Amino acid sequence: MFGVRTLLQCLAVALTLHLAIVAGEFFKPFNVSYDHRALIIDGKRRMLISAGIHYPRATPEMWPDLIAKSKEGGADVIETYAFWNGHEPLRGQYNFEGRYDIVKFVKLVGSSGLYLLLRIGPYVCAEWNFGGFPVWLRDVPNIEFRTDNTPFKEEMQRFVKKIVDLMREEMLFSWQGGPVIMLQIENEYGNMESSFGQRGKDYVKWAAKMAVGLGAGVPWIMCKQVDAPEFIIDTCNGYYCDGFRPNSYKKPIFWTENWDGWYTNWGGRVPHRPVEDIAFAVARFFQRGGSFQNYYMFFGGTNFGRTSGGPNYITSYDYDAPIDEYGLLSQPKWGHLKDLHAAIKLCEPALVAADSPQYIKLGPMQEAHIYRENINREGQNLSWSGNENKCSAFLANIDEHKAASVTFLGQVYALPPWSVSILPDCKNTAFNTAKVAAQVSIKTVAFDLPLFTNVSVPRQLMIQNEVARVSETWMTLKEPIGAWSENNFTVEGILEHLNVTQDHSDYLWYMTRIYISDDDISVLEESKVTPTLTIDSMRDLVRIFINGQLTGSQAGHWVKVIQPVQLMQGYNDIVLLSQTVGLQNYGAFLEKDGAGFRGRIKLTGFQNGDVDLTESSWTYQIGLKGEFLKIYMMDQNGSAGWTDLTPDAVPSIFSWYKTYFDAPDGIDPVALNLGSMGKGQAWVNGHHIGRYWNLVAPKNGCQRICDYRGTYNSDKCATNCGQPTQIWYHVPRSWLRTSNNLLVIFEEIGGNPFDISIKSRFTGTICSQVSESHYPPLRMWSHPDFISGKISINDMIPKMHLQCEGGHRISSIEFASYGTPKGSCQAFSRGNCHAPNSLSVVSQACQGKNSCSVGISNAIFGGDPCRHIVKTLAVEARCTPSTNIGSSAMK
Ligand SMILES: *[C@@H]1O[C@H](CO)[C@@H](O)[C@H](O)[C@H]1NC(C)=O
Ligand SMILES: *[C@@H]1O[C@H](CO)[C@@H](O)[C@H](O)[C@H]1NC(C)=O
Ligand SMILES: *[C@@H]1O[C@H](CO)[C@@H](O)[C@H](O)[C@H]1NC(C)=O
Ligand SMILES: *[C@@H]1O[C@H](CO)[C@@H](O)[C@H](O)[C@H]1NC(C)=O
Ligand SMILES: *[C@@H]1O[C@H](CO)[C@@H](O)[C@H](O)[C@H]1NC(C)=O
Ligand SMILES: *[C@@H]1O[C@H](CO)[C@@H](O)[C@H](O)[C@H]1NC(C)=O
Repeated sequence: MFGVRTLLQCLAVALTLHLAIVAGEFFKPFNVSYDHRALIIDGKRRMLISAGIHYPRATPEMWPDLIAKSKEGGADVIETYAFWNGHEPLRGQYNFEGRYDIVKFVKLVGSSGLYLLLRIGPYVCAEWNFGGFPVWLRDVPNIEFRTDNTPFKEEMQRFVKKIVDLMREEMLFSWQGGPVIMLQIENEYGNMESSFGQRGKDYVKWAAKMAVGLGAGVPWIMCKQVDAPEFIIDTCNGYYCDGFRPNSYKKPIFWTENWDGWYTNWGGRVPHRPVEDIAFAVARFFQRGGSFQNYYMFFGGTNFGRTSGGPNYITSYDYDAPIDEYGLLSQPKWGHLKDLHAAIKLCEPALVAADSPQYIKLGPMQEAHIYRENINREGQNLSWSGNENKCSAFLANIDEHKAASVTFLGQVYALPPWSVSILPDCKNTAFNTAKVAAQVSIKTVAFDLPLFTNVSVPRQLMIQNEVARVSETWMTLKEPIGAWSENNFTVEGILEHLNVTQDHSDYLWYMTRIYISDDDISVLEESKVTPTLTIDSMRDLVRIFINGQLTGSQAGHWVKVIQPVQLMQGYNDIVLLSQTVGLQNYGAFLEKDGAGFRGRIKLTGFQNGDVDLTESSWTYQIGLKGEFLKIYMMDQNGSAGWTDLTPDAVPSIFSWYKTYFDAPDGIDPVALNLGSMGKGQAWVNGHHIGRYWNLVAPKNGCQRICDYRGTYNSDKCATNCGQPTQIWYHVPRSWLRTSNNLLVIFEEIGGNPFDISIKSRFTGTICSQVSESHYPPLRMWSHPDFISGKISINDMIPKMHLQCEGGHRISSIEFASYGTPKGSCQAFSRGNCHAPNSLSVVSQACQGKNSCSVGISNAIFGGDPCRHIVKTLAVEARCTPSTNIGSSAMK
């Protein structure tokens, strides 16, 4: 193992040198243009699969692996937004370092031989803080976002030009030999445009012209923009885009966001989109004339720090993507899409040869589309060349309930419900979107259990890990309630939250003092009325302290706050802590949206009427003391006043906790379990790993069975009902050292740091179920004997492929049955038909190996265990734990 690591390190060094030497020349320079059918790259139409990866949602150390796994999964293109607020945190002060090193990211894409779609926006939405706008943009005089407004247009143009110029200086455009083939301006503006009237329409024209005027030399797109001008390609975003047509006959059909999962908010369920449905949507798109498809997201990643958008989006941006938040494959999603992409690639010669498909109705809800040379744009069959290598077909059954049997060019094909079969040669089926041959992977610290099989979910199975406490010794420090520095200030009236904080912190303290007379108190006591503090409207969270005591909290999105309060005779201190949990990222007029309080703040219940505090004198304090003193940084801060925390200490509010811990052995990704905490933020070795909040998802709304059939929406196939939305938090390996890692937590409502645990995460269990009715592996299609016609598809057998991730090995076969096995991963059982040597055949082929294949045929299992029945091989295997891999090299 040591040798492998050393070799990898050498490769990393070599790669770095390579980058330095070739300085951006990744390809022979090529031009990119388009016609009505497709992008034309270096003179050739291309069918392109694109993988969305947002660079700041991972670390630069993760990028090469994510790009490699995208490529291996069949991507030709990597897609990302550019994140303005990350790149220009203060006006005119740019940041292109670390996670924001966009040049490095683009170069890694190029050096992998992939293309790049750069969606500059610069409004990006993306469930990202403030939709990617820097908060200082609100303070530009007379600014109005995303409309025909000169101050906004000047700022937008400045940033877009900055990025385009950067790409050009670094030689990253295709015509310079770089990977950038396409750019996007604005983002889903069509959803907002009507809010701005004529000025919105003018703005679209301006944005398009401005972008193209920057001379980037590659095509520009606008998504969800039906009125995009003729020199910009309007594209589709959604769960399905096969019916989408651009606004001109001259433009190709592009799908910029295929939502292969969905995001979630604190206290929300965790959405999942079944891979059979994603594959169906993608196949339908290419079937009906599409030529560029991007997965939003292929890797979702993590909203580190305070980058998550709002209202209230969680720190994980896993998105149920084919590569999970930790960079591990999410199976069978990744594997099934890989097979789909391979099948589409087999069709590419025919897909690009035809100007449009020929449509054939096969049944009431069944249809075929044929691609081959000599089909004209009306889909008419001009002449039959007889060249079958250049004929491909897609057969769809859009019936969401019933399977269908169809006859196509004289042959009969069985189509499962809601599925597409892909016939690269117009004859043999290479792939069907509903037949998953890819393996299922279950991670050891899994909270997101695979749902893609038609069985009840083994919900509790994986939460049974032993507790690996991160530490037995903790220190603590109290955060002051209210003002803590000379920077506090006092003014009359309620200031708008963002106007004061500029988003330098989630937290803003509002403090005032009122006098309650003897009379007031006695009247209240006589009438048995409790006074109430009311705030007309508030987002995202307020905590109310009366005379130093936390009296109540409320979370919500522009909700009214009504909080009964206990007051005493004399002066009473009223302290309101307003908190943001991710700034609004979607909607018109974001510059006016703001945060914190709106309307009036009053005390009600008094004899002489309400006491309106809105115009009172309020003292303001931005942020937390610990946050501004950066007590989460490595270099000690011994003087800050930390004291030892005893295990029996009562959980207390507004406390800092810190400890030092050893990293889990090995190289697998690492997660912290903060399920014992309440709400706050966490840092490891000074890196902000994000906000945490232990809110629980509603008890209902999760189905026991996830049926892939039928139109998807984000409420379908949700998991985690009645469970906290997120308890595991990604700590990138590159932020850790072997030992003495500093973990600092700021906790608002009290939790138990002693129960914080840590785990490395790896795929511990893999399963697969492949039957005789599955198709042979797609690589068989490029086998010389198949191409030459020596062997036919009927001579080839389906295969089961199993692989442990990250260099782990298959340590044991827990279950194997060739016959009619029942159940699903972690709950397989034998059926009536079972080949007795199933386990020994599979063990022999797989045990001790990183990957293995087993053919699905009677011959391999020593004869037919039951005649005239379709046989299936089901296998469950374990992968060796992480500690056996590479740990010696890490030390
Ligand atoms: C790209 O197009 C430009 C303008 O038409 C042309 O000058 C240039 O030679 C082309 N480059 C390549 C690599 O084809
Ligand atoms: C197209 O026409 C040719 C000859 O006219 C015929 O042999 C062929 O089957 C037709 N193909 C389709 C898909 O209709
Ligand atoms: C799911 O399983 C049920 C019961 O076993 C069956 O009736 C149903 O057809 C299955 N659905 C799918 C999509 O396979
Ligand atoms: C708040 O500001 C005032 C005026 O600058 C100052 O006198 C006071 O000490 C500050 N409070 C704290 C806790 O630093
Ligand atoms: C925020 O400040 C700006 C000027 O700096 C002002 O125009 C705006 O009204 C303020 N917003 C609120 C809600 O007070
Ligand atoms: C703690 O460390 C940070 C970072 O080195 C420094 O900026 C800050 O002033 C220190 N605070 C104290 C209280 O020493």
